[in-house]
Amino acid sequence: MTMDAAVDTGAVNPDPPTARLSSDQRPVVLDVKNVSLSFGGVKAIQDVSFDIRKGEVRAIIGPNGAGKTSMLNVINGFYHPQHGTITWHGQERKQMRPHIAATQGIARTFQNVALFQGMSTLDNIMSGRSLKMKSNFLFQLIHYGPARNEEIEHRRKVEEIIDFLEIQAIRRTPVGRLPYGLKKRVELGRALAMEPELLLLDEPMAGMNLEEKEDMSRFIIDVNDQFGTTIALIEHDMGVVMDLSDRVVVLDHGELIADGTPNEVQANQNVIDAYLGVAH
Ligand SMILES: Nc1ncnc2c1ncn2[C@@H]1O[C@H](COP(=O)(O)OP(=O)(O)OP(=O)(O)O)[C@@H](O)[C@H]1O
Ligand SMILES: [Mg+2]
Repeated sequence: MTMDAAVDTGAVNPDPPTARLSSDQRPVVLDVKNVSLSFGGVKAIQDVSFDIRKGEVRAIIGPNGAGKTSMLNVINGFYHPQHGTITWHGQERKQMRPHIAATQGIARTFQNVALFQGMSTLDNIMSGRSLKMKSNFLFQLIHYGPARNEEIEHRRKVEEIIDFLEIQAIRRTPVGRLPYGLKKRVELGRALAMEPELLLLDEPMAGMNLEEKEDMSRFIIDVNDQFGTTIALIEHDMGVVMDLSDRVVVLDHGELIADGTPNEVQANQNVIDAYLGVAH
């Protein structure tokens, strides 16, 4: 029996797997500088600055009402801060709207699942492709050639995501009938359908049991590893934060009280006080 010489070279692999880059070796993709946001008299975010680097998993933590969701809303253009700047790939953004953020590569999931409950898993994830579709809906209705080809390509991508998230068995199930953990997974699928460069996840594991949390953690790690997607993640479970994140921003009453590696922030006295509810 002959062996394929091209395959069996017997040589030592010249490219052993490289160690994961530490955050400070990566370029900054998003820079939040001196951002403040108020709702009437409520100061949701006060003079907060931090950055997100390419390919890292960045956690945003803090007690309830700390301003975490507001911060994601500022990053993806839902809210416009009264003060400060957001810089994306070196370009300062003004008055950016969420759909523009999405076309620029920023996608997100929500604290409360926001899916089309009557639609199937497949169609919900497909809806994440809409920003990538050149042909409009009417165009597609008459199955004009190019639109048809485009739709086939979108369906192929969506099927890939369904395989990746291991949700083949529920592809035709209306999302409203799914248990909570799977709804969250479908929501992740819809965000992935946008093929984002930066993925914002607002408490992706809230309300999940241990097994569902482990599954979701694994998918988040795989998205980061396999697609190179940069991830900003709000999470309350410190165990999850310690496992997943490269760096952590801690907010409390709208202010940034710590920024560092999981070990650094966990040992930070301000953070311990904030979580224990020590008065300011
Ligand atoms: N649209 C809004 N209108 C008025 N106040 C708001 C609005 N959104 C947030 N706030 C207020 O801003 C503050 C920060 O809220 P935010 O939702 O960002 O906190 P959070 O850290 O995400 O909290 P949680 O852990 O409970 O989700 C809170 O006092 C909240 O009541
Ligand atoms: Mg929140």
